[in-house]
Amino acid sequence: MSQKTYYIHTFGCQSNKSDSERIAGDYEARGYTEAADWRECDELIVNTCAIRQRAEDKAKGFLHNVRVYFNEQGTQRPKIILTGCMTHHGQEKLYEMLPIVDEILPINEVGFNSAAVRKDQKHAWIPISTGCNSFCTYCIVPYSRGREKSRDFDDIMAEVERLVAQGYEEITLLGMNVNSWGLEKLGIGFRKLMMENKEFTREDLPDNQSQYLPPTGTPPFVKLLQEISKYDQIKTIRFMTSNPWDFHDELIAEIGRNKKIDRYVHLPIQSGSDEVLYRMNRGYTTKRYIEVISKLRAADPNIVIGTDIIVGFPGETDAEFEKTVELSKEMNWKIAFVAIYSPRPGTASWRIYPDDIPHAVKKERWEILDTLINKSNLSVRPVVV
Ligand code: SAH
Ligand code: F3S
Repeated sequence: MSQKTYYIHTFGCQSNKSDSERIAGDYEARGYTEAADWRECDELIVNTCAIRQRAEDKAKGFLHNVRVYFNEQGTQRPKIILTGCMTHHGQEKLYEMLPIVDEILPINEVGFNSAAVRKDQKHAWIPISTGCNSFCTYCIVPYSRGREKSRDFDDIMAEVERLVAQGYEEITLLGMNVNSWGLEKLGIGFRKLMMENKEFTREDLPDNQSQYLPPTGTPPFVKLLQEISKYDQIKTIRFMTSNPWDFHDELIAEIGRNKKIDRYVHLPIQSGSDEVLYRMNRGYTTKRYIEVISKLRAADPNIVIGTDIIVGFPGETDAEFEKTVELSKEMNWKIAFVAIYSPRPGTASWRIYPDDIPHAVKKERWEILDTLINKSNLSVRPVVV
């Protein structure tokens, strides 16, 4: 009898790609082999993204193609298993939306510790945390991936050790808020508020400056970077995503002195307007963001910064958008992932703010920032510390 085969189709971010590596590990542990193509597998796993409506539409489009293909062929289609952030819809709604799906694999069942099957022989993703407690008002992640959970130090180091033995030289530590890894939780009532389904306004939401108690001594994430750096063979360490909150001075100092840490640091701003940041519940002001970047550049002038920006957030006025344009000129970001706001059902912004910026305006704002940051070779003034 021939061996059973699997194929994983992955949408979305690095965390999804990393999850897919561990899903592949689980299949191989059960004796499956990878099929070369989804048209030829026994089980097709679709790892979905839900960060914007377009991401969900892509997964729907893919499943539509799968259905059409097997209908036309008249052959038996593979068993279809759906996982990833679209699972936030819940089983019932998903089976109704996507009747082709046979099974749903909740993200937290993927776990941290299954042996990952990696295609790259030099660089490895390592998940160090999952979920998110920050509840930025626009974001689906706290609903799709659940509460933030740090992976155990010993498990992370055991994986690093295995990777070193296998010859890996570069690693990327993954999590939604890597810099809060291992911190002690403060706890917030936000989830409760949302679950109770009561009416609320922005004023009722907590500010998410940090969900954690300030660390006493060296922050755990800094210790983790130091421990991993002890392996001679590890030449480059990257991490994503970190956030302006919990970006402690000790972390900045460590990045400054530890040259194994990549000189590219990704630090999302989302908006250059403090009013918009407030509506987004980002819990920091542009002043705090600029402070972090200035300190990073003071620690090593060769550090290069990238960011994420959302345009067309509810109520974003021309003047508020202009603040983002101004900040872009000041920050000299190397790259920006500019996204058009997409209301995500169930999130706070979807509940309390109408999606009132016309698409044409969103598109225009997207163009302006993308051209300014990603397409222009203008050498703009770097931040002076
Ligand atoms: N944990 C990371 C990444 C979150 S999702 C962080 O804290 O930044 C990745 C990016 O998608 C976000 O930074 C944001 O710019 C964008 N994004 C998230 N939700 C969105 C939405 N509803 N509409 C448009 N862009 C969104
Ligand atoms: Fe999303 Fe904000 Fe967390 S962007 S992943 S809720 S930090």
